[in-house]
Amino acid sequence: MPAVELRPLHYNLADSMNYCYNLVGSQSTILIIETDRTGFQLILKKGKKIMSDQTSKNLKEAFAGESQANRTYLAFAMKAEEEGFSNLARLFRAVAESETIHALNHLKALDGIGSSLENVESALKGETDEFTGMYPMFIDQAKRDANNDAFKSFFWAQEAERVHAELYQKAADSIKQGKDVALGELYVCEVCGNTVEGTPPDKCPICGEPGEKYSLRR
Ligand SMILES: [Fe+2]
Ligand SMILES: [Fe+2]
Repeated sequence: MPAVELRPLHYNLADSMNYCYNLVGSQSTILIIETDRTGFQLILKKGKKIMSDQTSKNLKEAFAGESQANRTYLAFAMKAEEEGFSNLARLFRAVAESETIHALNHLKALDGIGSSLENVESALKGETDEFTGMYPMFIDQAKRDANNDAFKSFFWAQEAERVHAELYQKAADSIKQGKDVALGELYVCEVCGNTVEGTPPDKCPICGEPGEKYSLRR
């Protein structure tokens, strides 16, 4: 009989003279456990946690909303600093941090975090879909609208996603072998988001800004 770890999700279902029944749950699994008077435990039923389509949809919507709120509040905090409202900036940053915690809790409840191999493969697919499908379509529309700001923003992201996909491909190849990916230093262009391994370029190949716009990421 394997030891059963009791997680916070723990409900007492029923007690009888000789047995006690408990429902215990981990992130994705539920167990019904029978315990007799000697403490002997038996798993009666094991199953996936029940998630209705509506709750799954709600969690995805809440995850998207909280994630957006995090980035929006960080942008608002930068503006508040610029305008000399440092306490307002601090408030925006604190609430942004709280929204990140909500977003992560929603993602966990969705079982949205897999093994590192699953995660890197999912990230690789996401980045590839973006530069092969989503951004080309968005760029075409922005051109038709003659909206230069949208065009530039989509184009910069598209080109950076291409680089992200290459880096994730390299990582996935390594993780598949059970080895961490060998990487030099990583730099990100603060203007367009280009991500470079090794040393930053003299001039950003995507946005054309000088290399000083690149900052080291740890
Ligand atoms: Fe990306
Ligand atoms: Fe750049």
